[in-house]
Amino acid sequence: MLVSSHFRYEIPTKIEFGAGYVNQLKRYVEEVKGNKALVIGDPGVVEAGIVEKVEKPLIEGKVPYEIFSDIGAEATIESVDHAYKIAKEKNCNVIIGVGGGSSLDTAKSVGMLLGNGGDIRDYVGLDKVQSPGFPVIAIPTTAGTGSEITRFSVLSDKQAKAKLSVGSMFNCPTIALCDPELTITLPPHITASTGMDALTHALESYVNKVTQPISEALSLQAMKLVARSLRLAVVQGENMEARKDMLLASTMAAMAFNTTRLGLAHSLAIPLGARFNIPHGVVNAILLPEVMRFNLIGNTKKFAQIASVFGENIVHLSEKEAAKRAVIAIEQLKMDIGITQNLSDFGVREDHLEAIAREAMESGNTPINPVKPTIEDFKNICRSLMNA
Ligand SMILES: [Fe+2]
Repeated sequence: MLVSSHFRYEIPTKIEFGAGYVNQLKRYVEEVKGNKALVIGDPGVVEAGIVEKVEKPLIEGKVPYEIFSDIGAEATIESVDHAYKIAKEKNCNVIIGVGGGSSLDTAKSVGMLLGNGGDIRDYVGLDKVQSPGFPVIAIPTTAGTGSEITRFSVLSDKQAKAKLSVGSMFNCPTIALCDPELTITLPPHITASTGMDALTHALESYVNKVTQPISEALSLQAMKLVARSLRLAVVQGENMEARKDMLLASTMAAMAFNTTRLGLAHSLAIPLGARFNIPHGVVNAILLPEVMRFNLIGNTKKFAQIASVFGENIVHLSEKEAAKRAVIAIEQLKMDIGITQNLSDFGVREDHLEAIAREAMESGNTPINPVKPTIEDFKNICRSLMNA
């Protein structure tokens, strides 16, 4: 498949990457001319003492701040409404998001609303945001979503059991403060699932129909880092080299897909995650090998390269046979890091598939997938991941 030779690549976020960088937070607040910060972090990062690590340089630097931590495992419209209200009442002019995707997506939404007004529901969709938001400093504590640089915020509407997405370059954080020391305390199962999310981002961007040379290079390097370090990060949580690799992989994969978008694993992951409460990284990990198998014929050359990146010996194989090895390699990786569930384990049944498939068909990730799917294809991918 040809890679696009006419393309646009844009990333407005400044990336600061390094162990211990969170200690310099005051400098970054000053850089964005912040007078008072709203620190947004979920209860998990508060409990893990990570919010304290963010507070310390603010206290020492005499930067006034408020904390908002009323966030669940996923960012919700309700928590965005609540945090936005507090930011306005307390006159905060810089938002510091600290945590995984839920904290960062909430922080981005609040920053965007402070600059644009109105209600978050007004901005659901692509490019509905008209103006820059207030500055957002995004501090990731997982290595997976890449939300620290992306234009997307994914928000749950609990009542409608749906996920909504706001996508705009004005939604990108001002600064991504990537400090791998903050990921050291992530438990193995979260390291595994978020790492598989990062891999799915890199891989889907790499093989899709709209990739271009800059995203390709970023995706390829992200996959090399995952191949080298995801297993180690899971089994040796304190291994700083592995943690650095995974945080860099996550950020680079996001830099790739922020422009290209993704593929069918994400088309299905969004409705499956919303309806059955499956963590995003876990559902991607379940789907990825089967989606790869479906996609092989659409980009055998790239899949053969992926097999090689993941250590498969493809020297004497045809391109088609080499491509199949990529599926085996990713299945092995998934099992090695302890992700063994299938869709039935989360309550997905045959009678759910029609609605899931129809929603997946509507995803913006579907038309750019290397193989054009039918509704029946979506159902078959799910069926092969369920108990007979
Ligand atoms: Fe994802």
